[in-house]
Amino acid sequence: MLQSSIFALCHVTVFFLHLCEAEDFKWTDDHHSSFYYSTFPTGFLWGVGNSAYQTEGAWNKDGKGLSIWDAFTHKKGKVYMNETGDSACESYYKIKDDIALLNELKVNQYRFSISWPRILPTGIKSDHVNEKGIEYYNNLINTLLKNNITPVVTLYYWDLPQVLQEKYGGWQNISMVMYFNDYANLCFERFGDRVKYWITFNDPWSIAVLGYETGEHAPGMKLPGYGAYKAAHHIIKAHAKVWHSYNNLWRSKQKGMVGISLTSNWGEPVDITDQKDIDASERYMQFYTGWFANPIFKGDYPGIMKDYIGKKSAQQGLSSSRLPTFSTQEKTYIKGTTDFLGIGHYTARYVTHKIYPLSQGKYHTDHDVMEFVDPQWPNSGSDWLYAVPWGLRRLLNFIKTHYSNPIIHMTENGVAEKLHCAELCDEWRIEYHKSYINEMLKAIKDGVNVKSYTAWSLLDKFEWDEGFSERFGLYYVDFKTKNRPRYPKASVQYYKKVISANGFPSKKEVESWHRKSIETCSTANQLLAADPLTTHMEMVTEIVIPTVCTLCILLSAVLLMFLLRRHS
Ligand code: NOJ
Repeated sequence: MLQSSIFALCHVTVFFLHLCEAEDFKWTDDHHSSFYYSTFPTGFLWGVGNSAYQTEGAWNKDGKGLSIWDAFTHKKGKVYMNETGDSACESYYKIKDDIALLNELKVNQYRFSISWPRILPTGIKSDHVNEKGIEYYNNLINTLLKNNITPVVTLYYWDLPQVLQEKYGGWQNISMVMYFNDYANLCFERFGDRVKYWITFNDPWSIAVLGYETGEHAPGMKLPGYGAYKAAHHIIKAHAKVWHSYNNLWRSKQKGMVGISLTSNWGEPVDITDQKDIDASERYMQFYTGWFANPIFKGDYPGIMKDYIGKKSAQQGLSSSRLPTFSTQEKTYIKGTTDFLGIGHYTARYVTHKIYPLSQGKYHTDHDVMEFVDPQWPNSGSDWLYAVPWGLRRLLNFIKTHYSNPIIHMTENGVAEKLHCAELCDEWRIEYHKSYINEMLKAIKDGVNVKSYTAWSLLDKFEWDEGFSERFGLYYVDFKTKNRPRYPKASVQYYKKVISANGFPSKKEVESWHRKSIETCSTANQLLAADPLTTHMEMVTEIVIPTVCTLCILLSAVLLMFLLRRHS
């Protein structure tokens, strides 16, 4: 009762604040909602992305080993409706089709990930290299290049080889650093002559927190207070090792770049005049982005993390902090190990100071921060995702200030479907991308060094523990039909315009894009409406006809036997 009253009170406060239109931080003079008509710097890159487990399918084909996501999804009760990525979008079989979509969009780059167990079935290089897997990625890379599309390759998008999980406990074990380094070197050796943008890890926050603290994601380990910190510690070391490998062994020949992609919310102080809330915002950001960015840019965990987790561990009667420490040598080794910073961003929260009871010694309470959403923020098909575009500008400026203005690539930004009945008329997605891209443009005007934008995602796909229930794609995928046909949503038309104009040249033009994109939905919807017919036809050709034929053959055989008997 008390809790809900406090919650309601906070919502009212937030609502009131929203009405007051809290001023932006000092780095900007612009009002939140004003639209900025201008274009991006020449050479700015536009892309779309996907990841292996979410789209490839072919989970056990051509010598691929199992990943922790194969094992996790095959257990009951882990994923919405017990769905799996066994077939997903069947992208393993659809390189040409997907590249045709990229050509339609006219993107300059395509972000995809390599499935570690597809090329190293046990995860261990000395065990066996699966040449079929190598061949698949070679085909993909070569076809992209033939079409003038730059591949941006993520090495680890959550699908750890299951053998490494079973044998060593996955990212809880330091040996992952060595195995990951061997795998990365194999990728540099086989693909590095053509791939120039490498991302070591995608969203290590989710790998650590959801995989090893709460257990919502594979491998489903629930180790509150320890698991995430330990996993993150090994991931940071693995990232640094791979960057050094590239730097020492491959860079001079291949001339590429190696970075990491961090996904982060923005945490806005509930009351920007209250120092406690401002401090809470700083802690929220340091526990999210700084956890990984600080070691990589500055050599160590953020001071705030060390203080808070150390203090809490001592209060719990522990002899050392639950947050592991880096040695002096390790700090020097890790510092400066990124050529660019990838940023995935989707949403924001209001944050305030809150002291949690000690019994809850876990990642989500260690920072003494409580989060809220403004009920007025537009929601989406994901319960955690609210459209708060101005949060992106704040986040980008936070990075600029804290890490000496690094090169940034926006590696993910997108939204899931809200209305399932109007799948192709995704006006809210148009609105989402338009406003987020615009805030990114404002950040560039602020001096943030953003070089590219990747819309997430090219296709509707397997959305982790949410199965196929959340659709992030610019293209709708019909998961009920065997060959997974793709249909353009209205946002495809809109994104195309942004790309070809390299931004938002004028109000008149931008408004006409909106109108024209929406006009396409009705025809596109007709295509989708024809879908049950396609499914029906497929059923006829794949099930009914073969069954009828088999029955006919059987019947003729019986009849023949009967006639032969009568004759004899
Ligand atoms: C971030 C994850 O990296 C990505 O795989 C997922 O599709 C999006 N969040 C949306 O949930």
